[in-house]
Amino acid sequence: MENGRANMKPVTGISQVTCTAPVNIAVIKYWGKRDEQLVLPINPSLSVTLSQDQLCARTTVAASADFKRDRVWLNGQEQSVDAPRLQKCLGEIRRLARKRKHKDERAGDLLGSCVHVCSENNFPTAAGLASSAAGYACLVQSLAKLFHIDGDVSHIARQGSGSACRSMYGGFVEWTMGRLEDGADSVAKQVAPAEHWPELRVLVAVVNAGKKAVGSTEGMQTTVKTSALVKYRAEHVVPSRQEDMRQAILERDFQTFGEITMKDSNQFHATCLDTYPPIFYLNETSKHIIHLVHRYNRHHGKIKAAYTFDAGPNAVLYLLQDDVPEVLALLRHFFPPSSTNNSEREFVQGLPDANRKDLPAELLNSVGLEPSPGSVQYIIHTRAGQGPQVLTDPQQALLDEKGWPKKQN
Ligand code: DP6
Repeated sequence: MENGRANMKPVTGISQVTCTAPVNIAVIKYWGKRDEQLVLPINPSLSVTLSQDQLCARTTVAASADFKRDRVWLNGQEQSVDAPRLQKCLGEIRRLARKRKHKDERAGDLLGSCVHVCSENNFPTAAGLASSAAGYACLVQSLAKLFHIDGDVSHIARQGSGSACRSMYGGFVEWTMGRLEDGADSVAKQVAPAEHWPELRVLVAVVNAGKKAVGSTEGMQTTVKTSALVKYRAEHVVPSRQEDMRQAILERDFQTFGEITMKDSNQFHATCLDTYPPIFYLNETSKHIIHLVHRYNRHHGKIKAAYTFDAGPNAVLYLLQDDVPEVLALLRHFFPPSSTNNSEREFVQGLPDANRKDLPAELLNSVGLEPSPGSVQYIIHTRAGQGPQVLTDPQQALLDEKGWPKKQN
């Protein structure tokens, strides 16, 4: 824009944007980087974006010439703004804004201002539910809107946390490896929108965990350094699996979708066991859930439910709507809430659990596990959902009209 700069007015007052962003759960796992700095993966991955009605991050960002420095609050507590990944995302957004200001002067308007960022999750961070993916997707989406940057910014979210790039889109999303050295083509792309497969449902079983496991960043570093299996997986297994999975989604073929999901989760955990020293993310409850699913599927002679586990013991089950009552009844039977444990919280949260089902004795016999009260804390019943959203109602903002957190712990 030729005369854009001449028209550029100094920004007074405050600019503010609030967004929400979803959690995603991979069915082809990302595990291992070929470039730590740029967060470039050793294999492509594919995930389902979960509905924000049940799980989401919310972030408000504000820019003002009155702010003295960049500041960040997370779940009510101020955090150091020097965290390298946060710096990376802020820096990349400002770099892009600088580059684009010749095309759209608004992109450059705020470059002289510091920002305030306030973010929270609508679910406990400690529950180990991919909070960093939703958090970084939300941060990057909000900053991009604030700086008037249009188009895909998943390559920036990727640098906050690899899996965050997939939370930039709704539905079924793949993260391509990319070939460019600067990682500009290692981006997320939608395979199909959430509406493509309306019957698909998700049950997240939040398992009572012991001490905190190795974080994914550190865990995958050790795996890449020490595991021969992870190299084989990246070169010889994932490329064809990614294609088969994409096809299964496009055809809404639950048999193939379920089988690949379970095999890929198992192989990811096998690479963790192949890491030296080994990493264990699954606990006894996770293993019981794996047995339950296989025995349940065998009982019916087809795949009716598929499990997947990330860097922790929580189980995520994919299934079709009609089977939700039976699978929930099985989970309640074998993993009932303990009488002493969190009686205020509903055991099954999220989408309605109205269709309670009586379980036939043959099915209970086929599963044949010892009931384990209290080992599952609660279950979130959800489905695939949309990508990040902008909230326009100022009541939903986390910063007040002057750009300061409305609540702080
Ligand atoms: C097991 O995205 O948390 O959930 O890039 O180091 O932040 P960093 O790792 P992160 O790893 C997620 C690993 C996973 C599998 C997946 O989501 O694909």
